[in-house]
Amino acid sequence: MNENHARLCPSPEWAEHIQTEVLPSLTEHADLGDDMLEIGPGPGAATEWLRHQVKRLTVLEIDAEAAAKLARRYADGNVEVALGDATELSYPDGSFDSVGSFTMLHHVPTLALQNKILAEAFRVLRPGGVLIGSDSLASNRLHHFHEGDTYNPIEPGTVLSRLQTIGFDKLTIMVDGILKFVAHKPAEHADSDEEWDAELDAEEAEDAA
Ligand SMILES: C[S@@+](CC[C@H](N)C(=O)[O-])C[C@H]1O[C@@H](n2cnc3c(N)ncnc32)[C@H](O)[C@@H]1O
Repeated sequence: MNENHARLCPSPEWAEHIQTEVLPSLTEHADLGDDMLEIGPGPGAATEWLRHQVKRLTVLEIDAEAAAKLARRYADGNVEVALGDATELSYPDGSFDSVGSFTMLHHVPTLALQNKILAEAFRVLRPGGVLIGSDSLASNRLHHFHEGDTYNPIEPGTVLSRLQTIGFDKLTIMVDGILKFVAHKPAEHADSDEEWDAELDAEEAEDAA
């Protein structure tokens, strides 16, 4: 992170923006459940709000200093801080009811790695779980803000197909000054293939009778 981020991201103004303008408009479309994973929490603007919405919040941060600060801040309570890379999550499949990513994907240097993070989020969600996310939109101002830092903004027009290709369904994509998205992992079909075939056979038999 460059100096601009070091000033903005821990500021009360940024926390206010994330907590009043971004997160409530996402959770309107999403049930976060009990267990949530937040990737790229930085100084914790979203963490502070999310920890009151779920029973357990795990936050995964790639920057050792930021992770250590968060771990000190949340030494007691329902937030578990982990140091790691969201492109390679160590959690088993289906570990979380929800995953969140806020203002972090544009810090991931390539489209392939951004997609890997989205695919990892899909993997660690339980069937029926939900991904919520937000990111800044490309602009000259944002480009200058990232001087000397990674700047790989998401093209909002690509988000639908990228999430759908990974397997997400029930998508809500909002563009209103920033990009916001909500995407669900489909719930498992209760029936096995055999049960499905048996149901079709029964329907056919009924139609023939
Ligand atoms: C601009 S900050 C946003 C922080 C916070 N989410 C917010 O909205 O205020 C982006 C954060 O993502 C973290 N990050 C970037 N790439 C990551 C990765 N691959 N895995 C985990 N965290 C990552 C950065 O270290 C940084 O703390």
